[in-house]
Amino acid sequence: MKGKVLVTGGAGFIGSNIVDLLIKNGYDVVVVDNLVTGNQENVNKKARFCNADITKPELRKVFEKEKPDFVIHEAAQINVRKSVTEPMFDAESNIIGTINVLECCRDFKVKKIVYSSSGGACYGNPECMPCDEKHPVNPICHYGVSKHAAEHYLFLYNFLYGLEYTILRYANVYGPRQDPKGEAGVIAIFMGRIKEGKIPLIFGDGKKTRDYVFVADVANANLLALEKKTRSRIFNIGTGKETSVNEIFSLIKKASGTEAEAEHVDPVPGEVDRIRLDCGLAKKELGWQPMVQIEEGIKRTFEWFRNK
Ligand SMILES: NC(=O)c1ccc[n+]([C@@H]2O[C@H](COP(=O)([O-])OP(=O)(O)OC[C@H]3O[C@@H](n4cnc5c(N)ncnc54)[C@H](O)[C@@H]3O)[C@@H](O)[C@H]2O)c1
Repeated sequence: MKGKVLVTGGAGFIGSNIVDLLIKNGYDVVVVDNLVTGNQENVNKKARFCNADITKPELRKVFEKEKPDFVIHEAAQINVRKSVTEPMFDAESNIIGTINVLECCRDFKVKKIVYSSSGGACYGNPECMPCDEKHPVNPICHYGVSKHAAEHYLFLYNFLYGLEYTILRYANVYGPRQDPKGEAGVIAIFMGRIKEGKIPLIFGDGKKTRDYVFVADVANANLLALEKKTRSRIFNIGTGKETSVNEIFSLIKKASGTEAEAEHVDPVPGEVDRIRLDCGLAKKELGWQPMVQIEEGIKRTFEWFRNK
């Protein structure tokens, strides 16, 4: 065994893909998840599962028992609209929950923590593109603020207590196990509706672009972040490419063979028009780059949805 990794949110979409990769690479893995959006079926059978809430004192008992060497912190409230309507709940999960995780890391002498932040939510309206890690951080939703606030606590725990950390700012992640009923994740939502024979809805003219990164590439970035010592601490994890919602829908039509047309409905206010991330730093220091192109990633995701 290479060491023990505690993955918070390891029953969720991204967390469970990270757990699989860690196990494949010889790590002993403990998953902490309260299943609020996650699913225990996602959890690799070789990992130990603890149903615990990161905001509660029960988390400490898991650390006490398991004494992990490393932590990968994925658990969060991820719904942007909910963050706006329930800002206290969002802050409780994403800020208080992170402080609780960090206090446990400190007390149980964790060697390193890797934190999942959000490029899309932290940078806000891009002032220039692609956004690199030095782009101003001006979140335009509560979720972006809470994800970014947690980044400051990581800096602080390193400054005060020497806790090693790496922050990964993900672009729009997609792939197997993403919840088609979630509020985010247009690819999963479209595929879910196609599978149910419902018409996919496109908000506005469909020309808004995002940087879509496949979940296996994100899992790989976490593994590299865990294992490599780098000069920088914050890395964008995306593709540097923009794809519009209309293009995504065309690719899904091709992969699924559906003739269905999407229905255009009123745009959602407050969403940025375009964004893509500059991921040159991750390439230079982590030796990471995305391996799965959008066409291939959509094919693989659709296969998973079809067989589910
Ligand atoms: N999906 C994306 O495109 C994206 C983009 C940027 C950043 N992120 C970040 O990646 C991480 C994982 O997101 P995801 O898309 O896999 O979402 P997800 O909802 O599938 O996973 C989150 C997991 O955390 C668990 N969880 C939530 N609150 C908890 C709590 N209080 N205690 C214990 N477990 C709790 C949920 O049950 C779930 O299994 C999040 O931190 C999110 O902010 C995701």
